[in-house]
Amino acid sequence: MRIFLDTANIDEIKRAARLGVISGVTTNPTLMAKETGIGFEEAVREICSIVDGPVSAEVTSLEAEGMIREAMQIATWAPNVAIKIPITETGLQATKKLSQEGVKTNLTLCFSANQALLAALAGATFVSPFVGRLDDVGHDGMEVVADIVDIYSRYGIETRVIAASIRHPLHVIAAAKVGAHIATVPYKVLLQMIQHPLTDVGVKKFLEDWARFNERR
Ligand code: E4P
Repeated sequence: MRIFLDTANIDEIKRAARLGVISGVTTNPTLMAKETGIGFEEAVREICSIVDGPVSAEVTSLEAEGMIREAMQIATWAPNVAIKIPITETGLQATKKLSQEGVKTNLTLCFSANQALLAALAGATFVSPFVGRLDDVGHDGMEVVADIVDIYSRYGIETRVIAASIRHPLHVIAAAKVGAHIATVPYKVLLQMIQHPLTDVGVKKFLEDWARFNERR
């Protein structure tokens, strides 16, 4: 189980990278749009230089040719870039071509096991089922992740499953329990995963007792 950071914020990525627990980053046009004062290429290049693992950058063309053109260009920016492509008819066509060219892909906006199966057959490196957005519309997002993991492992499919649209720490535990290879988490959720009130209470008590011990000597 690996953790990626789901953000385009350079500061958050630097902070998370210092913890030594993240092995990739996922971005999307919405996350990019939140960051001001930095262009797409500059942001992708910088993020790729901060983390060793895959950094997903999304194409915005709707036609396969445009997706491929964008992807081939983005792929020249860094060796660890993965091209995020929506699971659509044209997205699958582009994925097939890009996988033949050896370009890493992350098939995004996945909301069903059928879509994930097709993504894998097209040669996707990663597939990203959106757990939170499924939960939002009354479907069990984690059940979709579990189905995908089950189908992939039954057929020895190598596409890695990224549990995405993660909203809280319980999503991460559930993703780990159903066998997702990766969970991509917002920085806020990463911090929530670290925190436990008993750890804070414990640290405070140890320090108080240590001070008392030293006073007695
Ligand atoms: C995944 O790669 C997406 O960037 C992300 O997880 C979407 O999450 P959201 O539903 O919180 O926008």
